[in-house]
Amino acid sequence: YDLKQLVSPLLQWFLNHARVLPWREKPTPYRVWVSEIMLQQTRVEAVKPYFERFTTALPDAKALAVCPEDELLKLWEGLGYYNRVRNMQKAAVEVVENYGGQLPADYEKLLKLKGIGHYTAGAVASIAYGIPVPAVDGNVLRVLTRVSADDTDIMKQSFRNEMEKLLEKLMHGADGRNEKNVFPWMEDADDLRAKVYHQNLAGAFNQALMELGATICVPNGAPLCTECPWKDFCEAKKQELIGQIPVKSKA
Ligand code: ADE
Repeated sequence: YDLKQLVSPLLQWFLNHARVLPWREKPTPYRVWVSEIMLQQTRVEAVKPYFERFTTALPDAKALAVCPEDELLKLWEGLGYYNRVRNMQKAAVEVVENYGGQLPADYEKLLKLKGIGHYTAGAVASIAYGIPVPAVDGNVLRVLTRVSADDTDIMKQSFRNEMEKLLEKLMHGADGRNEKNVFPWMEDADDLRAKVYHQNLAGAFNQALMELGATICVPNGAPLCTECPWKDFCEAKKQELIGQIPVKSKA
């Protein structure tokens, strides 16, 4: 089992199977941020109309920063977890005050904004800016533990950190966070880059991992293994452990 040999088949699969989503068509940092916060609590299909309504009413961080609270809560109505949108507004105020209204193209700076954790910082940095940093959510942890038949409890923060480190190393090779040099060891990297959305391999890779977890390697019931780009590599499938992995504690 070698993660390196899984990247190209994953990206090839994503080229042909990526769902058409509004924030993918026009992945500005603000739109990626809004979509990722909404997607943390709600499925993709349900998010679509909320996303369109929200970004039409509040097209950028500046508009979000000054939106009256009653209007803001109305735009979020139905999504629940209202603290998320309250935090987004606080972050938008920071973005206006400190970054001229543009989310910073810097993982560490994104991480300092209210309500933005490792996952969201990674998603915005990679999908909107092409910066090769990981974005590890539950989908990603599930596909990674299944492909390697790893029975570590995915609720452990230390395991998440370990996966982030592994993916970061995989993505940027020896050159640090240079978006021009994602997967430098991969033979068809240039060919793939030319074909993926906005020639952004880092963003495509992170979204492909999420997409695999969301549409093929699904949590409950039967994953669609016959359609999986990793079906010939997957240890959980080989060992018939799909039902047992990931291990996920309640706490
Ligand atoms: N779930 C959360 N964010 C996602 C994204 N950008 N693509 C696919 N599924 C997601």
